[in-house]
Amino acid sequence: MLNTIENFQISLDKRKEQGILRSLKVQPAGIDFYSNDYLGLARNKDLQNVLLRKVTENPHWLSGSTGSRLISGNSITAGLTEKFIADQHQFPAALLFPSGYNANLALFSTLPGRNDTVIVDEQIHRSVHDGCRLSNARKLKFRHNDPEDLESKLKRQKGHCYIAIESLYSMEGDFAPVSEMASLAKTYGASLIVDEAHAFGIFGYGLIDQYQLQEQIAAVVVTYGKALGSHGAVILCNEVIKSYLVNFASSFIYSTSAHDFQWMSIKAGYEFLESDKEPSEMLQKNIKTFRNQNLGSPSSKKSPVQAIMIPDNQKLKEVQNALSEENFLTYPIYSPTVKEGTERLRICLHSFNTEDEIVRLTKIIGKFI
Ligand SMILES: Cc1ncc(COP(=O)(O)O)c(C=O)c1O
Repeated sequence: MLNTIENFQISLDKRKEQGILRSLKVQPAGIDFYSNDYLGLARNKDLQNVLLRKVTENPHWLSGSTGSRLISGNSITAGLTEKFIADQHQFPAALLFPSGYNANLALFSTLPGRNDTVIVDEQIHRSVHDGCRLSNARKLKFRHNDPEDLESKLKRQKGHCYIAIESLYSMEGDFAPVSEMASLAKTYGASLIVDEAHAFGIFGYGLIDQYQLQEQIAAVVVTYGKALGSHGAVILCNEVIKSYLVNFASSFIYSTSAHDFQWMSIKAGYEFLESDKEPSEMLQKNIKTFRNQNLGSPSSKKSPVQAIMIPDNQKLKEVQNALSEENFLTYPIYSPTVKEGTERLRICLHSFNTEDEIVRLTKIIGKFI
């Protein structure tokens, strides 16, 4: 009989044979077309100097929080940052988390009860699935961005329904029809939860804010590790949901709070976004340049994520090798991460990419498709 470690090794060897073994690498030097630092804020020297100044004046922000926010880990900075964020997004309340993964885990493991159903877009982020697994609710999938399919599922449910969508999907780079989904939620008395991880900071404060849908949404998740170039996340909701999460969400209750530096840098990021619109404009200009090369992407023409379908793991590897020989850092998405036949190269555009880089990158990709 094989022991557990031998079984683990067999699974790892299988991945290696298929060329999809994951391993940890330090980010190599190269031209970034794969990070989520869409606006270049994670490398912005002006923002770094703002943070440095603030932390020099308040060095205790760098120290650990000493406990869960329900015991010794809460602070005035955490509370003030939540109030600031709630006001910015025009929501009654906000609850900070150390990461978006944790925020989704808290929401989906806590809000849906035993007799409820969570209906998720088939391309929803893994953190939502993991949250659902920790709840006692039933989970159903609807076809990606398909309101008709969602409605047919909503019609057949008995208990309360939660609907989980992203406003901009990171694998496909396409927008959800959020207004339509919000109307459906209203018609069927369901609670809509929207993850704005990839839209926040690029399309203002996200699509819910742009379309002013706050009153039709049960909760919004905003993450700060992408356009804001920082780390952490927030759940925007009403006071009852916030209090319910504080009382019942295990990933909030049983975890040491992040330190104040994290909360402070999120607030500084918002202020920076407001003061400097150039990164956003540069990003849209670069997206346009990329789209003008006509590689034929299914992504939205305004999305910073542009997927190029290369439906074959082997061929995808060849494209990525050709790109890395020219110093381009890109991220191939192999099956089984996506369905077989939908393997793709995921290009992330940034404010700091140059026109020349974009044209050279697309020429190499063009040779393979
Ligand atoms: C849609 C979406 N939600 C949530 C997360 C998780 O956020 P974080 O990286 O802050 O844990 C991600 C990150 O990959 C994401 O893409």
